[in-house]
Amino acid sequence: MDPVIRPTTPFDGQRPGTSGLRKSVQTFEQPRYLENFVQSIIDCVQGIPGATLVLGGDGRYHNRTAIQTIVKMAAANGVARLVVGAGGILSTPAASCVIRKRKALGGIILSASHNPGGPDGDFGIKFNAANGGPAPEALTEAFFKRSKEIAEYRTVDAPDVDLDQIGERRLGSMVVEVIDPVADYAELTDSLFDIDAIRALFASGFRMVFDAMHAVTGPYAVEILEHRLGAPAGTAINAVPLEDFGGHHPDPNLAHAVDLVAALNGPDAPDFGAASDGDGDRNMILGRGVFVSPSDSLAVLAANATHVPAFRGGLTGVARSMPTSRAVDRVAEALGIRCYETPTGWKFFGTLLDDGRINLCGEESFGTGADHVREKDGLWAVLMWLNVLAARRLSVAELMAEHWNTYGRTYYGRHDYEAIEQAAADRLIDELRNRLPLLAGTSLAGRRVATADEFAYTDPVDGSRSERQGLRVSFEDGSRIVYRLSGTGTAGATLRVYFERYEPVGGEHGLDAPVALAELAAVAADLAGIQRHTGRTKPDVAT
Ligand code: G1P
Ligand code: ZN
Repeated sequence: MDPVIRPTTPFDGQRPGTSGLRKSVQTFEQPRYLENFVQSIIDCVQGIPGATLVLGGDGRYHNRTAIQTIVKMAAANGVARLVVGAGGILSTPAASCVIRKRKALGGIILSASHNPGGPDGDFGIKFNAANGGPAPEALTEAFFKRSKEIAEYRTVDAPDVDLDQIGERRLGSMVVEVIDPVADYAELTDSLFDIDAIRALFASGFRMVFDAMHAVTGPYAVEILEHRLGAPAGTAINAVPLEDFGGHHPDPNLAHAVDLVAALNGPDAPDFGAASDGDGDRNMILGRGVFVSPSDSLAVLAANATHVPAFRGGLTGVARSMPTSRAVDRVAEALGIRCYETPTGWKFFGTLLDDGRINLCGEESFGTGADHVREKDGLWAVLMWLNVLAARRLSVAELMAEHWNTYGRTYYGRHDYEAIEQAAADRLIDELRNRLPLLAGTSLAGRRVATADEFAYTDPVDGSRSERQGLRVSFEDGSRIVYRLSGTGTAGATLRVYFERYEPVGGEHGLDAPVALAELAAVAADLAGIQRHTGRTKPDVAT
């Protein structure tokens, strides 16, 4: 059969967001929709013929179908070796690990991250480059442009390849190597942490619950926590990946990780709790009766990094996305290392990590990571915490109190207004952007505005420029409000509003975050005219 299929359905011009193309399953099920995007990737990435590529996904509905499509297209396009996770499974950080370890040209990862799955849920695809990290913006823009003009794609007419048995098989001249999706990743984590100290912690009776949320990290958590680190069987809950994640949002936050939150707040609560998302790159950290905000988690890990073998020599630098709280900045200052502020999205950390400028980074959206891979890494963050707790022998609550007593406390919160009309969202942002120059020096509810600006970023390594990365209003008392529109929503626009309030050492550290932030939240809604523009009186999600 002629491997060239034409014509493709015209692509409806959907630009990949900060983490690839993410759309409803129905959209992806349209004839040739996926094929079009995959061929666009193949056409834009230099050196595909003869290359090694990695392929895997988070196991959600449509994963297996999409994987088979991509396997056949890879063969038709001259890929020499395709390394596929058994069952089509690879968590996002594991895919990053495998790309790096195999020195592959890159990898295709199928996931819609924390979005719900199933026939009525979402699906997604992204390309990661040879460094294991998300494709740079110039490349995703090229995919988008190509996908609008593409007129044909290549595939082979062959039966489905068996992807459940580990081993090598052939499809035409391409080798399909089916690998254990956990092995390479577990070998990497073994090399980073003080395994003996963590084993001793579990042996001492320390108890944890890890909620895999029926998503991809289940098999990773069982192997690493239970088999390698000696945590009791059953430490990982909801550990069997399901195509629809059991009908839940596989999003590790207080709203969605309900089983975990209940366990940590119930009678006989364990010492430590954690969860990860659909594709395994996010993490949530809990102690008994305590929630650690991701911004604080980054700061605490930075402050305690030298207890972890991978960081024994100290941190080279740290980075956080702009909306992430400035808690880590204070640690960096005390350590005398650089702290970079980057636009939202993991890809902006990639150049800094590759260049050795930083080796720890994070985002407020439950993302934490380091230089061991080029993605945020949920289970890695959990292991960092376990290593620090094993070394310090403090409870999570004690560790947090110690941190705040040393650096001050930064209360943090985020409000999301979802599926609002795009035009209304754009008007809100435009109007606020125009007002920013007038705000400095004025007072809002008794707080004086120090600076108000729109964030733009020049990558210090490759010089690339990113404009319009969010509006920020900083107050003289150390508090801050940030507004930006989501790049990952799948319906309409999502407005995110972020708040932080700084209480110095000796200040009021014992408030519940929503209480501490209520006044700032009211100021933020009023300043942007959220109700006037969107009709909404309250956010859909408050984290
Ligand atoms: C969201 C998060 C961002 C994260 C991205 C991918 O993007 O806010 O930090 O990198 O998901 O997980 P957003 O929808 O805000 O553009
Ligand atoms: Zn994710």
